[in-house]
Amino acid sequence: MGANAGAGLTQSNAWLKAIFAQTTGGIALTDLDGSFVTVNQRYCEIVGYSEPELLKMRMQDITHPEDLPGNLAQFHRMVETGSSFDIEKRYIRRDGTLVWVSNSVSVIRSDSGKITQAVTVTIDVTERKRAQEEVRQLAAIIASSDDAIISIDLGMNIRSWNRGAEKLYGYSAEEAIGSPATIILPTDIVDEENIIIDSIKAGGHVQPHETRRRHKNGTEVHVSLRVSPVYDENGYVVGASKIARDISERKEAERLQNLLVGELTHRVKNVLATVNAVVRQTLGPVVPDSQEAVLQARLEALARAYDLLTISNWENASLHDIVRKAMSPYREDSVQIEGDPVCVSARAVLPLSLILHELGTNAAKYGALSVDGGQVFLRWFVANSSETAKPVLKLLWEERGGPAVTVPSRQGFGSRLIKAVTTSELGGCVVADYAHTGFVCDFEIALSSLTLNHGFGPAKGSPIVDVCQ
Ligand SMILES: Nc1ncnc2c1ncn2[C@@H]1O[C@H](COP(=O)(O)OP(=O)(O)OP(=O)(O)O)[C@@H](O)[C@H]1O
Ligand SMILES: [Mg+2]
Repeated sequence: MGANAGAGLTQSNAWLKAIFAQTTGGIALTDLDGSFVTVNQRYCEIVGYSEPELLKMRMQDITHPEDLPGNLAQFHRMVETGSSFDIEKRYIRRDGTLVWVSNSVSVIRSDSGKITQAVTVTIDVTERKRAQEEVRQLAAIIASSDDAIISIDLGMNIRSWNRGAEKLYGYSAEEAIGSPATIILPTDIVDEENIIIDSIKAGGHVQPHETRRRHKNGTEVHVSLRVSPVYDENGYVVGASKIARDISERKEAERLQNLLVGELTHRVKNVLATVNAVVRQTLGPVVPDSQEAVLQARLEALARAYDLLTISNWENASLHDIVRKAMSPYREDSVQIEGDPVCVSARAVLPLSLILHELGTNAAKYGALSVDGGQVFLRWFVANSSETAKPVLKLLWEERGGPAVTVPSRQGFGSRLIKAVTTSELGGCVVADYAHTGFVCDFEIALSSLTLNHGFGPAKGSPIVDVCQ
């Protein structure tokens, strides 16, 4: 070898050494039995061992046992044939943690062409593997979901279609993917898709909603739909994903329930009207303030309370509505109503309505509503009971501007009903004050007995202190 050739070799050796030390890939040189001969710094970092430690080990010692047989088979084939191979496998690091790597392995030959060593270039792909695993898990969830999960692009063509969608809409993934999203839209709401896509494109959000979709066989299905934008890696919206749940059964149950409630209401009202007619016929013509007129007014109060329950499907009614309904016979400006929103359960609506009816008729007969300018103030709020610390409704009926009041010498049906219904039906207490300036009635009723349904209408899990739906 000439002097120049020797200098060239030294230079290229130095160059190789620099690459070996600085490359972002790990590099390991091994004997044909897998013993490490040389490793670079990056390789040490990836596997978590120092260079001196590795030089006493074989690649078999740090390869995950599950990946080793396949790895060795490829290694032996390479030693026999000289052809390189790529492999993704796990190393067990010094601290016991796993690292996924992508290795490119090739042979090194002696000057005579004999295979003497192997060189492995290693890249840490743990992050990529983790992301792949997440994607795989997500794909498995989507595939096995009973919900129909589909995605569409901005051109409104279907891009993905899971098994749930096959079941719900009747089209196979093959049929659906690439087709326009309108294939599952009933003709009367075919624009819905445009509106959704426009909103997604504009960066807006589509509220979860209930709608209809068309099955391949032409029938319609009721679905609850959730729509989310799909972004590309640069954050641009490229489409929308949609999760639809079949709610046909629930819709049918609701329809039946409405039918039954309607029928029941009709019957109850018929019964009340019949009782009213029987009373009228039995007692003769209505004389104002007569027993018959009082009875009739009470029956009407009952009918009004039932009206309230019908509006809310026998589930509940807001206290504001109950009060307004009970006070509807009186001039609006003579009754001031103010209170926290409280949703009253079906079973408490009637007792409350009856109490308010008796208070109203008494005010009209003897109190503030019996004169022009007299006023009733009805105020309530929710507070914690000073005795039980549980939430209670405090309701105050206060009359002002009526004739001077004296303490009555007798109790009629009204007072007895107010007391009995408050205590036995609602488990509360009531204090009446026949103050000279106006009658005052103070109620305290446990919130739970107003808001919880006990065997009447669909039970609600917890007290509802909210505006009724
Ligand atoms: N808001 C009121 N203002 C003034 N006095 C009242 C008021 N409410 C009741 N009273 C007095 O209390 C009495 C008892 O009332 P209560 O409602 O128990 O019986 P009633 O109204 O006389 O008869 P019923 O309710 O049986 O038709 C009344 O007769 C009246 O003297
Ligand atoms: Mg009365």
